[in-house]
Amino acid sequence: MNQNKPLRSTVGKKVIMAVSGIFLMLFLIVHLGGNLTMFAGSDLFNSYAHHLEGLGPLLWVAEAGLLAIFLFHVISAFQVVAEKKRARTDRYAVTASKGGPSKVTAASKSMIYTGIILLLFIPAHIWMFKFNGGEPHPVTEVHGTEMKDLYASVAEAFANPVVAFGYAAVMFLLGMHLRHGFWSSLQSLGAMAPKCSPLIYTVGFIFALLLAGGFLVLPLYFYFTQIGGAA
Ligand code: HEM
Repeated sequence: MNQNKPLRSTVGKKVIMAVSGIFLMLFLIVHLGGNLTMFAGSDLFNSYAHHLEGLGPLLWVAEAGLLAIFLFHVISAFQVVAEKKRARTDRYAVTASKGGPSKVTAASKSMIYTGIILLLFIPAHIWMFKFNGGEPHPVTEVHGTEMKDLYASVAEAFANPVVAFGYAAVMFLLGMHLRHGFWSSLQSLGAMAPKCSPLIYTVGFIFALLLAGGFLVLPLYFYFTQIGGAA
């Protein structure tokens, strides 16, 4: 390890991956909170999205920050994976980290694959909803204010079984990614004593279940309520 360049070392990259991962988890909590307003009907969700848009330059700064954090996360993840491959003999990098032995589970072994799927999903998702697939957004009026009808776009997208079940499958993989990522980020930051490791792993499992589960019910809810409505 190069002591003079801590951020360029594998541990430094793991720290970047961990810190950026924690910020991305915070974004997901806020995003899920906004999305869950859809259960209260279209007006609340559309007004929420409209208020966010009303932040103007502040929102662009937040979006640019989110993109930068996302890129840090992805690049450091690929670098750590490449270094692990290169240095198979480095026992520290492969089997242990600051807080104790690594957890080897299906979720941990598949981090790179679930990560790549999310990497493909996110631009497609933003194109689909933020840019409405290149089409003008439908418009609605809430209490006399004209605004984008994002709710209608989401409902229409999830009326399609391929989209609804495809989303649900990706949300399951998101859960796997978060399950290991939660524990691993704290481990990389040395933020837990080895004896707390099982507890943190359980907390991570519950966190992943709630977050990914919250996202997962949305496409299924829209699909089944619309199928029910059509029947
Ligand atoms: C069922 C699940 C989801 C639904 C229904 C959903 C819905 C939406 C909608 C409607 C927008 C557009 C918001 C706007 O234009 O104001 C959006 C944006 C976005 N979503 Fe999701 N989302 C879901 C899951 C996710 C997940 C799992 C991620 C990340 C892994 C994610 C990341 C993003 C990002 C980065 C944006 C752009 C935010 C911005 O630029 O302001 N979404 N989502």
